[in-house]
Amino acid sequence: MLDSRNNNTLKEHAKSGSACNIVDGEMMCSLKKNGSVCKDDEMFKKIPNLAADSSAPAKHGNVTNPYSLEVLNESAQYILNRINIRPRIAIICGSGLGTLADAVEDKVEFPYNEIPHFPVSTVPGHAGKLVVGHLGQVPVVCMKGRFHFYEGYPLWKCAMPVRVMKLMGIEILIATNAAGGLNPDYNVGDVMILKDHVNFPGFAGHHALTGPNDDRFGTRFPPMNQAYDKNLRALAKQVAEELGMEDFIRDGVYAFLGGPSFETVAELRLLRMVGVDAVGMSTVPEVITARHCGMRCLSFSLITNEAITDYDVEAEASHEEVVETGMRRQEDLNKFVQHLIPCLAREHLPKHERSVSE
Ligand code: HPA
Repeated sequence: MLDSRNNNTLKEHAKSGSACNIVDGEMMCSLKKNGSVCKDDEMFKKIPNLAADSSAPAKHGNVTNPYSLEVLNESAQYILNRINIRPRIAIICGSGLGTLADAVEDKVEFPYNEIPHFPVSTVPGHAGKLVVGHLGQVPVVCMKGRFHFYEGYPLWKCAMPVRVMKLMGIEILIATNAAGGLNPDYNVGDVMILKDHVNFPGFAGHHALTGPNDDRFGTRFPPMNQAYDKNLRALAKQVAEELGMEDFIRDGVYAFLGGPSFETVAELRLLRMVGVDAVGMSTVPEVITARHCGMRCLSFSLITNEAITDYDVEAEASHEEVVETGMRRQEDLNKFVQHLIPCLAREHLPKHERSVSE
């Protein structure tokens, strides 16, 4: 498994000079073409087809997931070469929670389409970006915008940025999302700290770790019974209480569905029967991938709408409501995360990593 503290695998890889060479402080990628960084589709064309040996270690990726450690390392090095801090905490900003990334101080921004090998957004005008800087004086990296299964990406591609962040040295992932509230005790505007998830697409064979396993990231069969770190959850709850937010902080089980349609009444009733408290279309691929490579995860859902389980209710779920609730709660959520980050750093990062600059 990768050890982000000394990045052994990374160093070994750099020594081997296999796919990347450092030239003038820049990672020159063997996939680079005409001086420009090749983007996703080109990468697929250029990576040798390993169909004949799909069990080959992922030096060049594999037929299922071409993002090998070497390729992802080029994305990570591209970012590291352009920043002089070394964040250990990453935050994925869910729908309506993007203003958190705007609150980052001393920021350096990386539009996804400028990072080598990053997926290209399917949503015009919403390309998304990585924002590196400080929150509460702690170095962080924020993903403003993520990749969803419903956009047509396979799950390993949705989760690709997590491995890039691992290679950057990230140890703690905070993944946020918007979700429909199924638990009848929940109110719109509540914040649910995830204690567990149900990976519904996984039941049908859609999983972020499908394909040959690269042991350098993690084990073939990673456990998920402690997906959401108990200590991080306890700290998040404590911070919420200190801020007087206990009235709207919950903890519960999140179900990941593929979307993009909202759920039918029958689907929601089924989910409730199996103990789901909130339902959404993200987070789980990223958390599974993060756990696979040894990151500790904390996740919370903003309950943006009530999941309707009654045939007589005329109201319908809508993206507008999701966005509107996100805007209404953004100040509270920003305050929560800005208080949480320094506490996390103080209690869960070694002293020398709390404020890491190059
Ligand atoms: N269902 C699925 N995803 C969601 C919902 C919902 O009700 N609200 C926000 N994301």
